[in-house]
Amino acid sequence: MSFFSKFFGGLFSQQPLTKALPHHVGIIMDGNGRWANKRGLPRIFGHTKGVDSVRLIVKLAQETGLRYLTLYAFSYENWRRPDEEVSGLLGLIRKHLAQELDELHKNEVCVRIIGERDKLPKDIQKLIQTAEEKTAENTKLTLVIALSYSSRQEIISAAKKLIAQVEKEKMNLEDINEETFSQHLHTHGIPDPDLIIRTSGEKRLSNFLLWQSAYSELYFSPLHWPEFSREEFIRALDFYGSRQRRYGRV
Ligand code: FPP
Repeated sequence: MSFFSKFFGGLFSQQPLTKALPHHVGIIMDGNGRWANKRGLPRIFGHTKGVDSVRLIVKLAQETGLRYLTLYAFSYENWRRPDEEVSGLLGLIRKHLAQELDELHKNEVCVRIIGERDKLPKDIQKLIQTAEEKTAENTKLTLVIALSYSSRQEIISAAKKLIAQVEKEKMNLEDINEETFSQHLHTHGIPDPDLIIRTSGEKRLSNFLLWQSAYSELYFSPLHWPEFSREEFIRALDFYGSRQRRYGRV
């Protein structure tokens, strides 16, 4: 039985079962704060509930057979939030990176972190190193977590690395092209996302995978991230399956 028959069968039995599936899905997990505010709770409760949705989406990615899942967990701009919220968020990331690692490894998930990791506390940098080393050979799903991530910073840093190589005469100016540029991004070796999902109704990319999303399909969900569900993921996949990707061609 194909994935679509199994996965869509029960919920959308009237639909054709031949739609294309994305290989790589990126998610801007937005709306944790608003979810908490609506319930009169401190914002950190929204982030804590958001971790349940992270668990769910990792499970769904595995069930679906996605090859890459990129989650925007902490942006470079998030450093400007109040200290209490920043330390709360880092606390959740610290706790769950450590707690989930064995399970992820057991499920043959490869963990990759993108972002300005030098700005992160040293113990989290160490956890990242451990997670990346331990899971480096896993091939079922690559889980990319964007932490302290800014796409503009990533692009500037790639440009600087390329300029340095040209200055040291290790590279010719003519050899700078889309492929060599991509190889100097944090996402080197990872294919561009086919589908980007943003929750909570905002319709913007907020400095997430700007280079890599040139041809991504964009799905905007009205749900806040803590409310994200299996059904909403299926709706996003269904939306993706209905798109014609032309890459500038007719
Ligand atoms: C956006 O909501 C969400 C974040 C800034 C953080 C998302 C992080 C997690 C769910 C924890 C991830 C943990 C691991 C281990 C990957 P917001 O605060 O911007 O919401 P708002 O727009 O409603 O204020």
